Amino acid sequence: MPAEKPRVLTGDTPTGRLHLGHWVGSVERRVSMQADYDCYFLLANMHAYTTRYDKTADIRQDTIEIVKDWLAAGIDPEQSTIVLQTEVPAIAELTWYFAMLLSFRDVMGNPTLVHELRTKGLEDKYSFGFPMYTVGQCADILAFRPVYIPVGEDQEPHIEMCRKVARKFNQLYCNVSDRTPDQEYEKAGGLFPIPKALLGRIARLPGVGDGTQKMSKSLNNAIYLSDTSKDVQKKLNKITTGRQSATEPGDATNVLFKFVEAFIPDLARVAELKDRYTRGDNMGDGHIKQELAEQINMLLEPMRQRRAEFETPSGDEAIIAIIRAGTKRANLIAEETLYLAKRAMHMDFGPRTLR
Ligand code: TRP
Repeated sequence: MPAEKPRVLTGDTPTGRLHLGHWVGSVERRVSMQADYDCYFLLANMHAYTTRYDKTADIRQDTIEIVKDWLAAGIDPEQSTIVLQTEVPAIAELTWYFAMLLSFRDVMGNPTLVHELRTKGLEDKYSFGFPMYTVGQCADILAFRPVYIPVGEDQEPHIEMCRKVARKFNQLYCNVSDRTPDQEYEKAGGLFPIPKALLGRIARLPGVGDGTQKMSKSLNNAIYLSDTSKDVQKKLNKITTGRQSATEPGDATNVLFKFVEAFIPDLARVAELKDRYTRGDNMGDGHIKQELAEQINMLLEPMRQRRAEFETPSGDEAIIAIIRAGTKRANLIAEETLYLAKRAMHMDFGPRTLR
């Protein structure tokens, strides 16, 4: 048996296709971690349910589509484990216990949750269950006892909550001292490591526009991983900098250069573009958009090809088979975690066989 690789877990809520903001914010990193870590990629369909319980058929299709995006992006289901949240009962059970280890204020004051309630028009309408997704996310993570969680920066408050739960559990039920440094909880006898967020290379990619908004589906300013090369070119043309001509000294920190930094890998070329742009040395926005389109299309072309394999009449069935196989593997570890957690809590009367 090879030595066990450290585990990594992250997830996406199935709400629509993945875009370049997801790529540079987290997905790119997940793809590159697969070789060195035992990776679990979770489909957070229960989270989708907290706001779209009246559109469950859409959630199902979005779940299938996001797996297509993952596979297209380079997630390898042989190497990594794709997990369907609603078919891992240990997650739902752990959520109940963890809800007691956080205060009401911890949850309701979570900055990402507060922001969502404000911006998604949920303020007076959200269900009793909606805020539970944040506790559920602690369970998503800790069910797999991972060391790292690659996420975008908007997820940091959730990861902080998860770390709080892990410390508290270890202190209450595994006799770990509250003075233990985070990296030593397991050594000190804790069940849960205190996992760390790994943020992406680019925290906030702007959408195609004037640079004031971040890339997002709802703002209609996103370039999707599944876009055609024509779409990519057309959308890049929507970037506006207010610059008049190729000889006007430009600001090489503007929205266009956020894209340059994100998608032109050759650092010498980036430096040259910046220099000429700043001096107004015959370097137009149009030319830069052209170079960006080439680079982005080079990135997306292999994704389009991999995606095409699943855009067949039997494609969805193939995806469902991958989800099933991954979830089966995932349940082995999540059930083990649940068993160990309940044992530590004196809640275990097992072994149990439910069917
Ligand atoms: N809340 C995350 C998002 O909307 C998705 C998610 C669910 C997640 N469970 C997770 C991310 C566990 C990291 C770890 O993007």
